[in-house]
Amino acid sequence: MNAPVTRDVWQSVPSLWNAEEDDVLICCQVRHETHDVKSFIFRPRTPGLIRFLPGQFLTLELEIDGETVNRCYTISSSPTRPDTLSITVKRVPGGLVSNWLHDHLTAGMSVRALGPSGEFACALHPAGKYLFLSGGSGITPLMSMSRSFHDLGEDRDVVFVHSARTPADIIFRRDLSLLATNQPGFRTAFVCEGRGSEADWSSPTGYLDLSLLKRIAPDFSEREIFCCGPEPYMAAVRALLAGGGFDMKHYHEESFSFADTSGDQEGEEADRADETGAADAVGFTVEFAKSGRTVVCAPGQKLLDAARAAGLRLPSSCAKGVCGTCKSRLVSGEVDMVHGGGIRQREIDQGLILPCCSTPRSDLVIER
Ligand code: FES
Repeated sequence: MNAPVTRDVWQSVPSLWNAEEDDVLICCQVRHETHDVKSFIFRPRTPGLIRFLPGQFLTLELEIDGETVNRCYTISSSPTRPDTLSITVKRVPGGLVSNWLHDHLTAGMSVRALGPSGEFACALHPAGKYLFLSGGSGITPLMSMSRSFHDLGEDRDVVFVHSARTPADIIFRRDLSLLATNQPGFRTAFVCEGRGSEADWSSPTGYLDLSLLKRIAPDFSEREIFCCGPEPYMAAVRALLAGGGFDMKHYHEESFSFADTSGDQEGEEADRADETGAADAVGFTVEFAKSGRTVVCAPGQKLLDAARAAGLRLPSSCAKGVCGTCKSRLVSGEVDMVHGGGIRQREIDQGLILPCCSTPRSDLVIER
């Protein structure tokens, strides 16, 4: 059991947690949210407050079976309670990291983390009215935003529509109902594919479509929309909003189902890289030392794209420089790297790079 938090502990809180200085977080509690979803609550190793925007994510760096694995998880807690942060993880059949977290991570264990990062935050898009649309575990960033509105006593005009497989799969169902009870301007609606074991489920079943959205939020076109969920869900939302004439300048989305989307991205990016490579044979050579392969990287081409175009599979996930999955050691040469927080300054100083957001400035040797 964790030691009780005494006045001395509160008075000793010296600073903000900074992953650059100490990237260790201690898991202090695990909560069961649904039959296949758990929340993991973390605090800094040394007392400190954690600062983030509601909607941002954390990248966990885990050692699983001797391999370092990076995964991004959106923070589900609110920064108004900054002593801890929580991530909420659904167990994915066959998923390496979600199963490891569910089966192995317990209170008292530590993890390494990067961030918080990300721009999916309503604080960056102030509006009079919001519409939150989430599918499955995509509820987490919207929950963080909703919790922060509640804790700050901001009775915002929010319509929160969450889609789930069955009522038993609705994450944070009780929490959302409490938020709606305490704030007249906060309304929730659930759409379930089926009733599951709740025969008396009286909310809509099926899928969210335009007519249902109009019934739930007739003024949806006046709202700033934040959407998070699996890519097929977000694609369906984009299509229904387009069908409803929504101005997509006011639409924001986030997805971290990288395992699902990376295959598609790989295919598309490889195709684009192939075209580039065919059109321009001039470039820098990139030697991947461990695999013994040398590829040509066209001017302006990202290293990850060049590797993929040559049939080399590097570990990758976001392809945007935020998750850290592709981190690699640069043995020689120079790159231009524009990352999104997926690498620490001291790692850059030690010669690490993110190939997904790096272009060569010279011939390179990479330890992969
Ligand atoms: S794949 Fe995410 S940082 Fe490179």
